[in-house]
Amino acid sequence: MRAASQAQPNIALVKYWGKRDAALNLPVVGSISITLESLWTRTDVRFVPGHKEDRVSLNGRSDEAEGKRIKACLNLLRERAGVDYGAEVASRNNFPTAAGLASSASGFAALVHAGARALGLDLSLAEQSVLARRCSGSAARSLFGGYVEWAHGTLADGTDSVARPLLDAEAWPLRVAVAITSTAAKQVGSTEGMRRTAETSPYQSAWIDTQETDLGVARDAIRERDFDALARIAEYSCLKMHALALAAQPGLLYWNGATVECMHRVRALRQQGVPVFFTVDAGPQVKAVCAPSAIEQVKAALRDVAGVLDVLDTALGEGARAIVPEAVEA
Ligand code: ADP
Ligand code: DP6
Ligand code: CO
Repeated sequence: MRAASQAQPNIALVKYWGKRDAALNLPVVGSISITLESLWTRTDVRFVPGHKEDRVSLNGRSDEAEGKRIKACLNLLRERAGVDYGAEVASRNNFPTAAGLASSASGFAALVHAGARALGLDLSLAEQSVLARRCSGSAARSLFGGYVEWAHGTLADGTDSVARPLLDAEAWPLRVAVAITSTAAKQVGSTEGMRRTAETSPYQSAWIDTQETDLGVARDAIRERDFDALARIAEYSCLKMHALALAAQPGLLYWNGATVECMHRVRALRQQGVPVFFTVDAGPQVKAVCAPSAIEQVKAALRDVAGVLDVLDTALGEGARAIVPEAVEA
């Protein structure tokens, strides 16, 4: 009753922010993302018949808050399998956790992918996407590789609020430079940030009303491999999401000075004709998405910004997959 899996974080180009059902984790808007290759979560799950407790370690440490969230995800898997066995879970991220690099996406995609197999559940990727969504919304998308859309859905039980692949990574192999400006965990996690935004931001209804148009524009840009169109819609969606969150009370300010400077640097490059655009999630890191030919120039420009600690470089990657358990601690 043991299995291990790897999943990678995904970066939304048309953002998810807001829940219409917090218990089922149903979003107020659909979203579109790209799955990364070089950043990963690796998770080893073992169920032990007779054990009542779960033992959980994340990045080599046991933390009560993380333990609770992982346990809630294990409960969904146990419910599906009709068992009550305790589990031993060891998970590791090779990038900063809870810092705006989508560790909840890769983390819960890997946990569901490994946990389902450990319990002998024969679930399709779509079924795993629905389960992962209930643990963290963005995790629904990390089951799949390349360009992915997570649907808003219409059913009350949430079974159609699921991700599906739009285009393979190899079909349009963009690259991503990730400027790390802080490795600290964010002060307000995404779940709490969305709740606060929905309750207090005056822009919530405008955000919801304009998303369908943005999704259509991004789908077309991806289908036509139209970089300029994708650049425009992605920066627009990113800035609109942050404007929405900035207008909450108290305002959610996920950026630091270096974040802003990186955004300016990316725009300056694009004005010079370099095919690159930025996106920023709930954290201070800047993801610069570019054509493969531009990656070295983009990395050099970001490294040059004061306050940038490191610049990671990744291609687009595959969805969740099985690995050997030994790879988790290796
Ligand atoms: P992020 O921007 O990294 O996605 P979130 O606030 O959305 O930040 O979520 C961070 C939370 O996700 C962590 O506090 C933890 O509860 C969970 N998480 C992160 N990595 C993992 C993992 N490998 N396995 C399980 N849960 C994880
Ligand atoms: C800004 O999926 O981390 O990255 O569903 O509460 O776990 P929960 O939130 P999460 O939110 C991600 C928000 C975002 C945008 C996105 O990934 O679409
Ligand atoms: Co997250």
